[in-house]
Amino acid sequence: MGEQLVVVNFKTYETAHGIAAEELARAMASIETDARMIAVVSAFDLSAVVAAAPNLEVWTQHLDPIAFGSNTGWLHPETAISRGASGTIINHAEHKVSLEHVAMILDSVPEDFTVCACAADIEEARALTALQPNYVAVEPPELIGGDVSVTTADPEIVISTAAAISEINENVGILCGAGVKNGEDVAMAIQLGTSGVLLASGVTKVADPVSALADLVSKI
Ligand code: G3P
Repeated sequence: MGEQLVVVNFKTYETAHGIAAEELARAMASIETDARMIAVVSAFDLSAVVAAAPNLEVWTQHLDPIAFGSNTGWLHPETAISRGASGTIINHAEHKVSLEHVAMILDSVPEDFTVCACAADIEEARALTALQPNYVAVEPPELIGGDVSVTTADPEIVISTAAAISEINENVGILCGAGVKNGEDVAMAIQLGTSGVLLASGVTKVADPVSALADLVSKI
């Protein structure tokens, strides 16, 4: 079995921005686990989070395929990399982009930079897999932020998307997300054919993130 990922998207949760983002990153770094733990942070918090938790893998939440120059407000991949990002998610349900945008990002980043493209359904997962990102994460939008994990609410979408991705390109890793809260959900995600999970509120909105994180990796 390959490596297993627990990817925590900080989004713009109040409990995961600014100083709180640094604290949450330190909490993630304190968890002893064989899982590959990744914090996905706001571009504004990138440098501070990398400084606060130098051994933690840190990704951005979005990038734009632009060159240096007059591009006000866009997120240049090289700036993210120079500030310590080692990967990004792209095309999240809350920040959709075109397939061309994803393809251009993949063309512009170095080989050791991880790109996880998010898909709402199996068709989108197929299209994104053809672009050869490192990972495709399937997240049914209606389950995002909810209390029931995709692995319980709709295991079939995880199984069928995992099968579809492997059929197109077995080198593209598979994640699932939406409603993931605990170690049972992570274990189920892996059992259904993924390499792990992409989650947010199960860590960012709980009273005790350290316990939540420890529970998430407890069955890995
Ligand atoms: O990027 C992860 C996300 O969309 C899932 O959010 O809160 O359902 O874990 P959540």
